[in-house]
Amino acid sequence: MSDRSPRSLFDPVQMGDIALAKRIVMAPLTRDRAGPGRTPTPLMAEYYAQRADAGLIIAEATQISPEGQGYLDTPGIYSSAQVKGWKAVTDAVHARGGKMVLQMWHVGRISHTSLQLGGKAPVAPSAIRAKAKTFTANGFEPVSEPRALAAGEMPRIVAQYRYAAARAMDAGFDGVEVHAANGYLIDQFLRDGSNHRDDAWGGSIENRTRLLYDVVSAVAQTAGSGRTGVRLSPVTPANDARDSNPQPLFERAVERLAPLGLAYLHVIEGATGGPRDVAPFDYEALHRRFHGSWMVNNGYTEKMAEEVVSSGLADLVAFGRPFIANPDLVKRLRIGAPLNAINPATLYGGGAEGYTDYRTL
Ligand code: PHB
Repeated sequence: MSDRSPRSLFDPVQMGDIALAKRIVMAPLTRDRAGPGRTPTPLMAEYYAQRADAGLIIAEATQISPEGQGYLDTPGIYSSAQVKGWKAVTDAVHARGGKMVLQMWHVGRISHTSLQLGGKAPVAPSAIRAKAKTFTANGFEPVSEPRALAAGEMPRIVAQYRYAAARAMDAGFDGVEVHAANGYLIDQFLRDGSNHRDDAWGGSIENRTRLLYDVVSAVAQTAGSGRTGVRLSPVTPANDARDSNPQPLFERAVERLAPLGLAYLHVIEGATGGPRDVAPFDYEALHRRFHGSWMVNNGYTEKMAEEVVSSGLADLVAFGRPFIANPDLVKRLRIGAPLNAINPATLYGGGAEGYTDYRTL
């Protein structure tokens, strides 16, 4: 069980092997501003360095392989140029005293043939097209029909995560987060709405949690378990994610992860970026099963965040959209200052406008 003594958002916390100066986390945020070769740019380094006052920055979701990409101009972590680009980012964040982990992403079926090598179909547990859109060179478009992965391909998927974790550590990250939320590949395997397989990777909860377990084990062996976290979103409908009975599914998922001794578990409560009460769910039942740091996210105000941390119901709180428009969010939360409004037109793609030009106090 995590430490439940009295504490505030602005107190330090030891998260696995990573020492954090405060409990405010910048959530992973897709901004679609990678350069040619899906490489992090100096502008991205500036953007993250501006926000290094967070206790922890979780980098935007970053594809572990070309096949794992689902949106235009999202960065990767599989080429040497990408590692070099990310090293400039982590150096800039560390120079400002920040800590940063990389969120490792395989989108599975949430992709488009125009984003896949050779225009191929995206991969998924089952050949079921999601009712979802992705961001392509033509703007927002419906995702493509996926093909089902063969059982013989699963070791290749796990190896992609293992390789990406090694490259992330080469790039100077303090750790990695396995993205198992929001209807992407691992979440597609977890849920019976997207996983109709009848082999070892589908059907029972044990089989549907297999990819999560195998990936996280491999990543923890590579990056170190004290430098590995996982993100889950038990009831989100994001990207057409659906399960007939999420409570036992996610309880078992966390039970399987707990013995790995991970640094943290990051849980999106409710609908990602939407209502927190979209469906009933007992998050404490997951928390009780986990021994590392407990990170919560989704629509937290400063008051809610202080309460959840001081009561011991969470160790860390991740803020997403507020960090986009407020590079000095930590300071604003501390003094109760008003927050800048976000410009929705500049969220995805483009340059410095609506990215590095939000005003500080
Ligand atoms: C998005 O691009 O809107 C997005 C990306 C990754 C997520 C959720 C949303 O996990």
